[in-house]
Amino acid sequence: MATLISHSPAETEALGERWGRSAESGLVIGLTGELGAGKTQLVKGLARGLGITTRVHSPTFTLVNEYGSGRLRLFHLDLYRLETPDQIHAAGLEDYLQPDGVTVIEWAERWPELNAERGTRNAEARRAYRRVKIEPVGENERRIAYEDSGA
Ligand SMILES: Nc1ncnc2c1ncn2[C@@H]1O[C@H](COP(=O)(O)OP(=O)(O)OP(=O)(O)O)[C@@H](O)[C@H]1O
Ligand SMILES: [Mg+2]
Repeated sequence: MATLISHSPAETEALGERWGRSAESGLVIGLTGELGAGKTQLVKGLARGLGITTRVHSPTFTLVNEYGSGRLRLFHLDLYRLETPDQIHAAGLEDYLQPDGVTVIEWAERWPELNAERGTRNAEARRAYRRVKIEPVGENERRIAYEDSGA
C-alpha cells in the first residue's frame, strides 16, 4: 500500500495524469472516498494522462461516461446512485471489469464483486486492479492510499 499527501487539486490531478500515461489496456481503478474527497479530480488527471482532451465530469444521468479520444479508451463509472448490490447487479456493468481500455469507478466500495474478486485466484480475477482511497485531512490536503493487485 503506497500513501501520499496531496496538497492541492492540481497535485491530485498530477497523480492521475502519471497513472494515465503509464496505464495499460485492461486496467481497472476503484476509487473510494467521501463526497468531495477528490475522486473526480483524480479522474480528470487520468484522462489527461491518456491524452483525452474532452472535459471530464462525473456521469450523472448515465452511470458511465466513455471517452474515446485518447491513447486508450476511458470508461468512467460513478456508482453513487446505486445504493444496493441488487441495483448494481441490475445495472449490468460487469463488462466494464474487463475493459478494452481503462475503467475508473467512483464509489467502488458499493460493488461487492469488485472487492471480493481481489482475493480470489481464478483466471478472470487476474486483471490489473488498483484500489484507491482518498481521505480529506485538511481543507486542501488529501491522503491518497493505493494498492495494485492482479496482472
Ligand atoms: N488536494 C486536493 N485534491 C483533490 N481535490 C481537492 C484537494 N483540495 C481541495 N480539493 C477540492 O475538493 C473537491 C473535490 O471534488 P471532486 O468532485 O473531485 O470530489 P469527488 O470525490 O468526486 O466527490 P463526489 O463523491 O461528489 O463525486 C474539489 O472542489 C477540489 O477543488
Ligand atoms: Mg465525483
